[in-house]
Amino acid sequence: MRIDASTRALVTGASKGIGRALAEALAARGAAVGLAARGADEAQAAALGGRAIALPCDVADAASVQGAVERFAAEAGGLDLVIANAGVAHYGRFESQDPELHERMTRINWLGTVHTARAALPHLRAGGGGHLAIVSSGAGLRAFPEAAVYGATKAAQRAFAEALRHELAGSGVSVTTVFPGEIVSSLHDHEKATMPAWYHGDERAAPASELAAAVLAGIEADKRRVAYPREVSLLALNAVAPGLVDRLLRRLRGPSAAPRR
Ligand SMILES: NC(=O)c1ccc[n+]([C@@H]2O[C@H](COP(=O)([O-])OP(=O)(O)OC[C@H]3O[C@@H](n4cnc5c(N)ncnc54)[C@H](OP(=O)(O)O)[C@@H]3O)[C@@H](O)[C@H]2O)c1
Repeated sequence: MRIDASTRALVTGASKGIGRALAEALAARGAAVGLAARGADEAQAAALGGRAIALPCDVADAASVQGAVERFAAEAGGLDLVIANAGVAHYGRFESQDPELHERMTRINWLGTVHTARAALPHLRAGGGGHLAIVSSGAGLRAFPEAAVYGATKAAQRAFAEALRHELAGSGVSVTTVFPGEIVSSLHDHEKATMPAWYHGDERAAPASELAAAVLAGIEADKRRVAYPREVSLLALNAVAPGLVDRLLRRLRGPSAAPRR
């Protein structure tokens, strides 16, 4: 698909971070943009220009996402592109983590993606050539210690998107999975002091605007996957050579990234 002033795009998790950068990149192309997030408001929409619509919603609640999608499609006159990006992260050792955080990540990251896809697909199909992009993570290719449940939600998104892309063959609708590496955002603001040793932090993270540009180019080229920074795609080797990836990660991120030898 081409992304231009005729495109009607909805981004979940568009109030901050990567979703915000995606919304800005879409608005810069002249697209009508729906900003879906719990904290989405009129001021955020106004800052993106006249064609942006604030869609306050909770992706963990199927009816709430459905309402946001229906409202956007009605106001924009249809729906061409949906980016399921909303997500939360809670790092820490599995056994000492509050089980409520496990359920929260599952409800928002994984079930939120399912709810978003379910609500969006009928509209994308109706347009005849729509696109769904799902923001997973490098952690969906190779999960990291102290992020076991987070990684599991990201791997669930990857598996879902892979199957859906094939399932939608011939429908005109396509699916791209996005694998960000470390990107500047608010994702870890609540746990900056307790991040695992293998985490590099914002100093070495890539700007969200660069990821957003790569995502839009990947959607236009109907790429199966967009990994950014590009070296994140090396984590996919984990499926066939996990020992090799462990050695690579130990060298790049230190022993905490792969402590078991
Ligand atoms: N930053 C990274 O290094 C990185 C790396 C790999 C993958 N990712 C993935 O990228 C995606 C975006 O994260 P980010 O880094 O941009 O984090 P962020 O700056 O914290 O933004 C997260 C966005 O998700 C929204 N959100 C959270 N819970 C929601 C809910 N229940 N319903 C609707 N919206 C919700 C937030 O808005 P409200 O709080 O207003 O609802 C916010 O707009 C996530 O899926 C994350 O896993 C990020």
